[in-house]
This record gives sequence, C-alpha cells and structure tokens, in this order.
Amino acid sequence: MIDVRTGLGWDNHRIAEGRPLIIGGVTIPCEFGLDGHSDADILLHALTDALLGALALGDIGMHFPDTDPQWKGASSDRFLLHAAALVRERGYTVSNVDTVVILQRPKLKDYRVAVQENIARLLGIAADRVGVKFKTAEKVGPVGEGKSGEAQAVATLIRS
Ligand code: C5P
Ligand code: MG
Repeated sequence: MIDVRTGLGWDNHRIAEGRPLIIGGVTIPCEFGLDGHSDADILLHALTDALLGALALGDIGMHFPDTDPQWKGASSDRFLLHAAALVRERGYTVSNVDTVVILQRPKLKDYRVAVQENIARLLGIAADRVGVKFKTAEKVGPVGEGKSGEAQAVATLIRS
C-alpha cells in the first residue's frame, strides 16, 4: 500500500509597530512586524501545523502553549524542527511542502529564495520541494487593510 499523508496549516497574526517582521525564519526589513507570544512567524507556524496535521498530532498550541513563558519570544525554528523530528520518528519523510503568505505589504518576492532555502534547511529536504508564494489581499479585509498577515501551508509526507 502506498502510504501518503497530507497536512494543512493556517496562521494569522496582528501587525504591530516596532516588532520584527520574520517570515519563514527570514527577517524582512520593515517598519512594522507581527505581534505574538513567540516571534510570530506566520509561515513557520502554518507549516508546523501542516506537518502535525499530516500526522494527526493536534496543533502547534498543543505542543507549544502560548501561556508557557519558555516560548515567549521563541524562534519558530524550534516549532518546525520539533514537528520535523516527529515526522521522522513516525517513519515518514517530507516529500514536499507548499505555502502562501498573504500580506498587503511589504513586497516579499526578493526574499523568496532565502525563505525557500531556510525552510528546506529546517526540513532537511531540497529547496525544489518547498513552494513559497506571496499574495496581497487586494486591500480588502483585515489583511488588505494592513491589520494582519496570514499564511497557509500544505505538506505531503511519504512513508520512508
Ligand atoms: O496579490 P497579487 O496577486 O497582486 O500579488 C502579485 C505578486 O506580487 C505576487 O505574485 C507576488 O509575487 C508579489 N507579492 C510580493 N509581496 C507581497 C504580495 C505579493 O512580493 N506582500
Ligand atoms: Mg502563530
């Protein structure tokens, strides 16, 4: 039997002045960032949930409660690395991931390769197995009005 699993993740954080803007582990120069208990990296949070979802292991908040002071300001690398370790422990390999970041501004496309390569490094897979897409929200809704940013991710795991 071919054993393939798919996981889906989504995340959303408020925009806040004076916070760093960290997307996929890459710090983007910007006068605002995303608010949150950890570093508020929407992309790594969505991706972590996609891996956990593929394994039916709940969600990121279950593994890293945002009430726990040890995760305050935490780099989200740790969340994704934890999920990637669970994938390996359960006998799976990440075949590929695909992601979308929805942020009205700043323009992110110049950082696409850096984000793709950083995610590939964290997952231990080739960069051509990591899709990274950016969208505005066409100035509509909370994302479009610059109040928040969102990310979506899917992951496909195969039994190794
Ligand atoms: O949202 P829209 O389709 O108008 O985005 C057009 C292109 O702009 C996207 O395909 C993406 O490459 C780029 N983009 C970006 N940074 C954003 C939003 C979109 O680089 N924050
Ligand atoms: Mg989050």
